[in-house]
Amino acid sequence: MPQRDSFLNTLLVAAVLCVVCSLAVSSAAVILRPRQEANELLDQQKNVLDATGLAMGEYGVPPSSLSRSQIEELNSWISSELVDLETGEIIEGGDAASYNMSEALSDSERSVAITDPEYDIGEPRRPKVMRVSFVKQPGSEKIQQVVLPVFGKGLWGTLYGYLAVKSDMETIQGITFYQHKETPGLGGEVDNPNWKRQWEGKKLYDDGEPAAEVKKGPADKSDPYAVDGLSGATITSRGVQALLRYWSSDDGYGPFLRNMAEKLDVEETGA
Ligand SMILES: Cc1cc2nc3c(=O)[nH]c(=O)nc-3n(C[C@H](O)[C@H](O)[C@H](O)COP(=O)(O)O)c2cc1C
Repeated sequence: MPQRDSFLNTLLVAAVLCVVCSLAVSSAAVILRPRQEANELLDQQKNVLDATGLAMGEYGVPPSSLSRSQIEELNSWISSELVDLETGEIIEGGDAASYNMSEALSDSERSVAITDPEYDIGEPRRPKVMRVSFVKQPGSEKIQQVVLPVFGKGLWGTLYGYLAVKSDMETIQGITFYQHKETPGLGGEVDNPNWKRQWEGKKLYDDGEPAAEVKKGPADKSDPYAVDGLSGATITSRGVQALLRYWSSDDGYGPFLRNMAEKLDVEETGA
């Protein structure tokens, strides 16, 4: 009869245990992948909705307090398209659903170097194409807002967010950052709802030039372009101002916003 605690037996038990555990871990990863993807999508939808203010308008609470079905209901207001940033044109037939910004950024064919920008976001590249979202009441073709993905450096890393612009294509509806590394209580105050709320109604352009501003210190409430600075976080504040100006400039969504404003004007006046 073989020895139970022989060297070979110990090795065999260890090997079997390794195989069983690795099978369990990899099966869990495969089985949970669809759920993980669904949660990532839900998270992205909540962030887009947060910038639009729709959840507040319809339910009086932020999207983080909504149920999955309420998010789905509000999500029927949102549709997405791919936009060529250089021309500002929507790419007809573009596959917006499978677009991934970080993949586009790391592909030298699908992104361009940012060289000598007028507004420095501290990033080396930007995608050639971005996925923008449109807010329309279900059953209506009237565009109420566009939601633009934006990013740029703060103090500790890149801030990623969404900028929602009202149908005049120059008035800010809202801003939200879904990923950043700024310090809680300092630069991390970009997430403070009271600070974010100040952006609603501020203008992106002064006489056609990007003009959104984060003051050092408090802003005059009647200033059409500026909000309060984040105290003790001048670098984050400057980063937010730079990214808003960059993405509203001709290097970012400027051409797209002009095209949209023209299109909506033509639709409205029927000219
Ligand atoms: C631990 C620590 C964390 C900080 N985090 C931030 C931050 O998130 N954003 C920022 O702009 N400045 C941050 N600062 C401050 C900057 O280093 C810098 O002093 C500041 O931006 C200057 O702005 P002020 O003139 O408003 O003080 C931090 C400083 C320390 C010591």
